[in-house]
Amino acid sequence: MTDSERLLQNIHNENPGMSTHFFKDALVDAGKSSYDLLIDEILPNTMTTILDLGCGDGYLLEKVSEVFDVSLIGIDMSSSEIKIACERHIKKHIPFLCGRAQDIPLEDSSVDYVMSHMSIMLMTSLPKVFAEVHRILKNKGKLSFVIPGKVEKGSTYAHFVELLRKHLNDEGVKLKKRFGDLNVRTVEEMEFLLSHSGDFFDISIESYILHLNAFPEILCEKLFYSYDALLLSPYSKKTLRSELIEYFYTKKTDLGITPCSFQINKLTGTCCK
Ligand SMILES: C[S@@+](CC[C@H](N)C(=O)[O-])C[C@H]1O[C@@H](n2cnc3c(N)ncnc32)[C@H](O)[C@@H]1O
Repeated sequence: MTDSERLLQNIHNENPGMSTHFFKDALVDAGKSSYDLLIDEILPNTMTTILDLGCGDGYLLEKVSEVFDVSLIGIDMSSSEIKIACERHIKKHIPFLCGRAQDIPLEDSSVDYVMSHMSIMLMTSLPKVFAEVHRILKNKGKLSFVIPGKVEKGSTYAHFVELLRKHLNDEGVKLKKRFGDLNVRTVEEMEFLLSHSGDFFDISIESYILHLNAFPEILCEKLFYSYDALLLSPYSKKTLRSELIEYFYTKKTDLGITPCSFQINKLTGTCCK
């Protein structure tokens, strides 16, 4: 395990469920959540085994189990996330395994669909991860993942990122790209890697705008679940919180909601053996 993976693991061990808090009420234009975009890829009559890679606290698998009667498996490298996932699914007997995507503890050609929500961009050695996904997928099995895309300049979310960076800078925290594969950052680079491996075909990318819109205080609370905000001192957190809430109040609609959004991308491909 690399130093950056250890850091990520510590963050999730100390803050399990943080990603679900951030994403679960956010919607794309069609009124779906970003988790629903992955559920849309399920073919109930042909898929019998589905893996959620980087499953966090098991929220996505809970949603799937409410609709489909298929075998589900969750894998994550954070033991605290896995513990919550097991508690969430105690009656459903879903296996939640603590493990790394670079070394998936499953048999060759044993899975019909590998889905992954907001996790792939955090994984080191993506060629190794995709090779592992190819190994465990059946021929014509499907891979689909959702990752963040661009942040629009001048948007509420961009303002949050700017203010957060200013506070981190004032505290002397050096921000570099800490997590993930530093050679494969964008969805286009991931598509290139997958298509040139010859292991996947029918690769498509869909882009959506994800809206986090909420009352100012709630929006602020959600944004504080981002990794960089956790690096702030209590003093800077308090100052940033009041600056954000003041700004969010200037942006709120007549209903009292502050719009806040960013782009997300879904990549889907089919395994070829
Ligand atoms: C942003 S969270 C998303 C969690 C969940 N999929 C969700 O969206 O609610 C990223 C998750 O990926 C996991 N993760 C990151 N790199 C991993 C790796 N190489 N192997 C397994 N899990 C990993 C982290 O532990 C974390 O739980």
